[in-house]
Amino acid sequence: MLPLRPLPQAEPSAIIPPMSYLAYKLLHLVGVFAVLMALGAQIASAGAAGKSRIHKIAGLCHALGLVVILFAGFGLLVRLTVPWPWPGWVLVKLLIWLLIGSSLALVRRQAALAVVWWWAVVGLATLAGYMALYKPF
Ligand code: HEM
Repeated sequence: MLPLRPLPQAEPSAIIPPMSYLAYKLLHLVGVFAVLMALGAQIASAGAAGKSRIHKIAGLCHALGLVVILFAGFGLLVRLTVPWPWPGWVLVKLLIWLLIGSSLALVRRQAALAVVWWWAVVGLATLAGYMALYKPF
């Protein structure tokens, strides 16, 4: 009987081609667009009676968008070889992610503050972009 030899192990990168910096960035932006659309729709319909179709799409888009932002954000950190411990701009972006992540539930509960949320989301997203572009600390 022939001796059994172990099969050669394929490198994970040989099965799934690694994603490029630009692909991660596009994905990151897709996540950002989805989350901002979801929050815009939710804020615009805040206080409306009953659960509309938009309400459901907004919930799904917000949740999926957040996952995509985080996944692609970490991919970008790897591609940029950002070392551990992460610099301040990454920590600020993680905090913004948490705030934007909890915002949908807060918008739903505090319909009276819809206009405040509107500008808060614009400000947070702008700050996240600024942190990525200028990396001030
Ligand atoms: C809701 C929260 C977030 C928003 C709105 C946001 C927004 C953006 C935008 C607009 C860019 C593109 C900047 C450019 O054109 O170069 C960007 C890039 C980036 N983001 Fe985010 N981001 C968020 C969360 C995160 C998180 C949580 C991480 C880390 C896990 C992250 C890591 C990065 C990195 C590494 C880049 C690339 C920077 C570079 O190319 O030099 N972002 N983000």
